[in-house]
This record gives sequence, C-alpha cells and structure tokens, in this order.
Amino acid sequence: HIPALSRAESLIRTVADYPKPGILFRDITPLLADAEALRVTTEALVAPFEGEFDVVAGIEARGFILAAAAAITAGVGMLPIRKAGKLPRPAASVDYDLEYGTATVEMHDDLPAGSRVLLIDDVLATGGTLEAGRVIVDRLGYRLAGISVLFEIDGLGGRDRIGDLHTVFRS
Ligand code: PRP
Ligand code: MG
Repeated sequence: HIPALSRAESLIRTVADYPKPGILFRDITPLLADAEALRVTTEALVAPFEGEFDVVAGIEARGFILAAAAAITAGVGMLPIRKAGKLPRPAASVDYDLEYGTATVEMHDDLPAGSRVLLIDDVLATGGTLEAGRVIVDRLGYRLAGISVLFEIDGLGGRDRIGDLHTVFRS
C-alpha cells in the first residue's frame, strides 16, 4: 500500500489563508474524490486497531466521511459526534475551543456502556476537537479503543494534548 498511500497523500491540497489569514487549510476533497486513495487511507485508519473496537465514532463534519467509510471497511457501526443542536436526544454535551472559533459537540447513547470506540477525524491541529471527542465518549461510559486521524499538523500542540494516537499522514 505504500505507493498508493504516497499517491493519496499527494492528493491532500494545502490552501493558504483559509478560512482565516494565517491558517494553512488541509483540503482532503481531492483525496476523497479518488477511489483508490479513499480506499487505502480508510484501510490505513483502521488497520492498527483491527479486532480492538466495536464501533467507530466520527466528529462532524469531515470526521463523518472517514468514520463512515472506516465502519464499512471494519464491518462495524458508526456513531456521529455532532455539533450542538442537531441531535434530538443528546445524552451528553461538551464545549471546546477550535483552531478558529469555539464549538459544542453532542452525542447519543445508543450503544451499551463499555462498548469499545475507535475515534476518527480528518485533521489533528490543536487537538481541541479530538479532546472533546475523547471527553464525550468517556462521559457516555464507552471505552476508547484508540484515536485515528488522517492528517496530523505539526507545531500546533495537538500531539502533546492528545498523546497516544495513530495518524496516517503528517506535516
Ligand atoms: C477541523 C478538522 C478537525 C479540527 C482540527 O474541523 O476537521 O476536526 O478542525 O482542529 P483542532 O485539532 O484544532 O481541533 P472544523 O470543525 O473546523 O470543520 P468541519 O466541520 O468541516 O470538520
Ligand atoms: Mg472537523
């Protein structure tokens, strides 16, 4: 998979000054549009955790895309961690700071406590989003089986904040 993964990495587009001046935006849409790149990156997200999780959780919005694909690849279900106000019966709610702004995530508790959750997102920057994901998964009594991210941005503190996580690509 190494040549295919390198090719997939080359399909991540870096956009300067979006959505605000000074931000280097990592746009994964060219990677998503490519059948082979989508397949090999999805496989690379779940491979280290094979047999260790019962369900995949993805964080709105870009995390949904990868988590749903990963769930199909792994043969498990998918839990959406949604931004505030979108779920009819949220069981937990967590506020967090973002690289550009603040937000709240919410989640349902449709699986039994103790279910092993693989948490997935597209990009690790400051780690605020994944930290919120980790907290809300914990608050519902789920067990965190691991964290897997497509692209890790160096130098914004995410690695220090989140610690043990698997990343497919990094800057
Ligand atoms: C983006 C990205 C990650 C997060 C990373 O989400 O998809 O979830 O920022 O930044 P952090 O490590 O500093 O938290 P964002 O909420 O901006 O947009 P999205 O709804 O398109 O996923
Ligand atoms: Mg996001």
